[in-house]
Amino acid sequence: MTRPVRFTVCLSALLVIVVVGCAPTGNPGNEEMQRAELEQAGMRIYAALPEDSAKAALIEQGQKMYRTAGCESCHSTRQDRLGLQGPPLGGVSKRVMARQDDDALEARRWLVKHIKSPRLYPSPYKDDEAYHGTFMTPYNQFRDEDMRALVEFLWSLR
Ligand code: HEC
Repeated sequence: MTRPVRFTVCLSALLVIVVVGCAPTGNPGNEEMQRAELEQAGMRIYAALPEDSAKAALIEQGQKMYRTAGCESCHSTRQDRLGLQGPPLGGVSKRVMARQDDDALEARRWLVKHIKSPRLYPSPYKDDEAYHGTFMTPYNQFRDEDMRALVEFLWSLR
């Protein structure tokens, strides 16, 4: 390639990167699709409540998830916040239940959706100055079984 040609190729590549990088991502069609996917994930991961006999193992696995995912860098598992960046998670099931008409299945589905996309399913804390009026980090990479275990762990926190 001659120099001017190489220059043009480089410039075009750069332009493509800039254009793609700046394309709006929050368009409403996209968001509707994401919401539909999250609703489906909630239904899939929580088609039914876990059997009582399965709960202990799920909670144990969920606790490991909680640790390895780094949730504890922002949340306490007790009632007090301990000065951390996020709200305390002790008693979270009760609070989420109250917001979901006391439906234990829907409340768990909300937790799944919130963890996957706090932006589309924000908690009431998101506008709270104490938590910087901000969103949590989204976690969309967990396998379904792990997400179910994580939510059962959160559910067990008193
Ligand atoms: C960078 C800090 C940070 C990390 C890491 C984090 N969170 Fe959060 N979390 C927040 C903040 C801030 C809020 C409140 C704002 C919002 O809803 O996004 C929140 C809200 C929540 C809520 C809603 C509480 C309620 O009462 O409605 C749950 C549940 C939760 N987080 C669970 C988790 C789990 C599980 C993990 C790990 C997979 C995690 N968080 C990782 C900062 C964090």
